[in-house]
Amino acid sequence: MKKKINGHLNLLENDTMEFLNEIAENYPTAISLASGRPDSQFFDLKKIDFYISTYLNFISETKQKPYDILLSNLGQYSEASGIINEIISKYLLVEYGLETAPENVLINVGTQESLLISVLTLCNKEIDVIIVEDPCYVGIKNYALIAGYEVSGVKLDTDGMCLGSLEKKILNYQEKGKHVKMLYIVSDFQNPSGIRMSIEKRMQVIELAEKYDFFILEDNAYGDFCFANEAFPTLKKLDKYQRVIYLHTFSKLIYPSVRIGVMVTNYEFEDGSRLSNQLKKVKGYTTVNTSSINQAVVAGILIENNFSLKRYNEKKLQNLKEKKELILDALQMRFRNNNEYWCEKVRWNNPEGGFFMVIDLPFKVTKEDVIICAERFGVIFTPMSFFQLEEINEKNIRIAYSNIKKENIIIAVERLYNFLKNKNENGKK
Ligand SMILES: Cc1ncc(COP(=O)(O)O)c(C=O)c1O
Repeated sequence: MKKKINGHLNLLENDTMEFLNEIAENYPTAISLASGRPDSQFFDLKKIDFYISTYLNFISETKQKPYDILLSNLGQYSEASGIINEIISKYLLVEYGLETAPENVLINVGTQESLLISVLTLCNKEIDVIIVEDPCYVGIKNYALIAGYEVSGVKLDTDGMCLGSLEKKILNYQEKGKHVKMLYIVSDFQNPSGIRMSIEKRMQVIELAEKYDFFILEDNAYGDFCFANEAFPTLKKLDKYQRVIYLHTFSKLIYPSVRIGVMVTNYEFEDGSRLSNQLKKVKGYTTVNTSSINQAVVAGILIENNFSLKRYNEKKLQNLKEKKELILDALQMRFRNNNEYWCEKVRWNNPEGGFFMVIDLPFKVTKEDVIICAERFGVIFTPMSFFQLEEINEKNIRIAYSNIKKENIIIAVERLYNFLKNKNENGKK
């Protein structure tokens, strides 16, 4: 007799990301407005050897160690917390003005690993609850559900999480004998909404963390892709109470296959022990250590660029900004310059950075619509309902403009319009 699938895995039966990948495979000529991947034309892969030797030369000179020994060490198991922590500390200071001791930095296998290590280290399944934005990036929600932790969503307003609803939820859980232990926030240009949290809310949420005794996991995957003149300070920068665990990734700044994420916390427990030490222990038993070779590539790029990736990513940022403008122009052209009443009810936001925007529709779209749209109209989008937990609204979709070619934008918007027009005329639900 065959065994039944582990109950927690049933939660992934309708895995939306797998569904979107299948659609892209099944309809290869469809243009994707669903893929939130970075644009691969900017991947700097030819210089990998050069970056590794830049790193080795730097360490050899600054630490007075023979190059060959350093090279052979790259093939060996290494420190669970990472080998490039000092270089990352310098980068965080130069790039973001964040002062961090290297021992409070952990180098992980992308932000995804930072998320799971934080949850494993800090949350108790019996009593602790993880709060996320609703809608939310699926990486944390699905990991927490597979691992059996309680996750709950708080709605997003246009300036970030609704803090009134957050406070109510915290108190409701308290009444039930549960404790909100962790709050996950993508404060800049959130995936999937493109929203950035206002500075006022950033300050308020830190006060709430201190008042109700929870940690904030700040996932800053998109903060560097800011189109607005003013970048907002990170929650980590505003954090007076050491409540923020700051998560950074090189997946979008360099390329995702480098699989390097950074986790920073300077929280100390009552007995003076450091949270970073606990996280390091859990990391050691989760993935042992992060690839030293990949760490060397990232460090080499940082050294070569004087510890700032701003110039390194100048063209990437410009390209992203142009693609967003092109999408906005195409939407304006297609949905405004006509006399079709339903088009007036199609509305979109104008994100100040990041990879994503949202289009509100006058009717619902479902999973089946995604298939119909790919098959008959040649364009793929993501319903926002794929990212929602409690506030289900099927009348909006996420548009990712990070990985589309500029020359495909007008065609993609035209195809989307044709699909929506057809749906408006024939199949509103
Ligand atoms: C908000 C957010 N966090 C984290 C990740 C994944 O990061 P990493 O590749 O470092 O695991 C993504 C990827 O899409 C994301 O959108």
